[in-house]
Amino acid sequence: MKDLKSYIRTIPDFPSEGIMFRDITTLLGNPAALKHTIDLLFGHFRNDRVQMVAGVEARGFVLAGALACRLGAGFVPIRKAGKLPHQTIEEKYQLEYGEAALEMHLDAFGAGDRVLLIDDLIATGGTAGAAMNLIDHLGGDVVGAGFVVELPGLGGADKLRARCDKVVSLVS
Ligand code: PRP
Ligand code: ADE
Repeated sequence: MKDLKSYIRTIPDFPSEGIMFRDITTLLGNPAALKHTIDLLFGHFRNDRVQMVAGVEARGFVLAGALACRLGAGFVPIRKAGKLPHQTIEEKYQLEYGEAALEMHLDAFGAGDRVLLIDDLIATGGTAGAAMNLIDHLGGDVVGAGFVVELPGLGGADKLRARCDKVVSLVS
């Protein structure tokens, strides 16, 4: 198996000038690389008694769904504002390239449930921080956070490590 990094391509100036966009569609499209990614994440969290895997729209859904299935856990969607049909809670956040809001269903899980947060990438940490706030608001016990890619220059993963003991990224 080649280094996972080699399956991720970089698109300069997307979605705006100056952003080096790390595109994981090439990794997701390779059967061996996708399987290896899920295997690695499973290895990190298999002993954490995860009950729910919360995935962040949109790329995080793919990984969180597959991992939830492997862990024998449920899946919780954390979506951009206005997409979820039932009652929600909302958190606003800053992106590397703009501002947005995330929502989660109020009844997504019960207080005290063991929740794992999954997204494809952590950059500034704005998205993951907002997602963690949503899980906290519902009384979830955040057992960890997992990402395929960490962009260390932006400090997001380190910020997250200050509030969660187990933050895993596969590629830096
Ligand atoms: C990307 C990525 C993370 C977020 C990370 O999603 O999938 O969710 O940015 O950035 P941050 O650490 O600076 O918050 P994006 O908002 O581009 O949405 P998409 O998955 O719908 O393309
Ligand atoms: N989300 C925030 N920054 C990103 C980047 N550089 N590449 C891909 N997704 C991102």
